[in-house]
Amino acid sequence: MSATVTPYEDGPLLLRGDFEIVTPDGDRIEQEGATVALCRCGKSRRKPFCDGTHKLVGFTAPADREKPLS
Ligand code: FES
Repeated sequence: MSATVTPYEDGPLLLRGDFEIVTPDGDRIEQEGATVALCRCGKSRRKPFCDGTHKLVGFTAPADREKPLS
């Protein structure tokens, strides 16, 4: 399996490729396509998937690594 995860500025993590999403117990979570958007704002009503709520709550995050606190 090979997959890429792309963080989008102020938005979800896009997961593309060949992957499975499973619960901590190992149960498979059905996905809607070959590319999925995973919530990273914590406010989606469809976790672990993004439902667009990040825009309503003003979630902010960089598209690359966060700078360490100095
Ligand atoms: S990142 Fe989109 S709803 Fe959380």
